[in-house]
Amino acid sequence: MRKGKIEIIYTEYSDIKELPEKEQNLIYAARESVKKAYAPYSHFKVGAALLMEDNSIITGNNQENASSPVGSCAERNAVYWANANFPEKKILAIAVTSLDKEGKKAKHLSPCGLCRQTLMETQQRFSSPIKIIIDNRNHILELPNIESLLPLSFNKNSL
Ligand code: THU
Repeated sequence: MRKGKIEIIYTEYSDIKELPEKEQNLIYAARESVKKAYAPYSHFKVGAALLMEDNSIITGNNQENASSPVGSCAERNAVYWANANFPEKKILAIAVTSLDKEGKKAKHLSPCGLCRQTLMETQQRFSSPIKIIIDNRNHILELPNIESLLPLSFNKNSL
């Protein structure tokens, strides 16, 4: 028998100004995008912004549906749009933010399992780590890659 332990690395920032300007701008883009989310059922809006390798920014937000499983998260909407339109461009980072019906950010926003798996696929597709930046109510959390959110994943190396 052998017991193992998996550690994840993250950085917590108490103020957006502690981050480099590029990442600050990415968070601001997510904060703009969240306002355009369509979330009439959950009243929980999420905005995502992707930093592309050419420094352009692509955004997305959650789009819900009366038939709930049909709705799609901000992260996947942004990533699929980027991959569909710019299949050659790496995604370097993703910033996510949220707004509840009182206009408050979640204390601990975290991409769902489907989005983690999608980000894993994209990271592997471009062989380049995707930094994850989570804009929470009282702090900003930064993870260096998707493995930090999805350890022991099923991915192309599993096939
Ligand atoms: N949601 C996202 O868009 N991203 C996340 O990281 C978490 C959840 C959406 C899905 C649904 O529209 C709403 O938030 C409530 O779950």
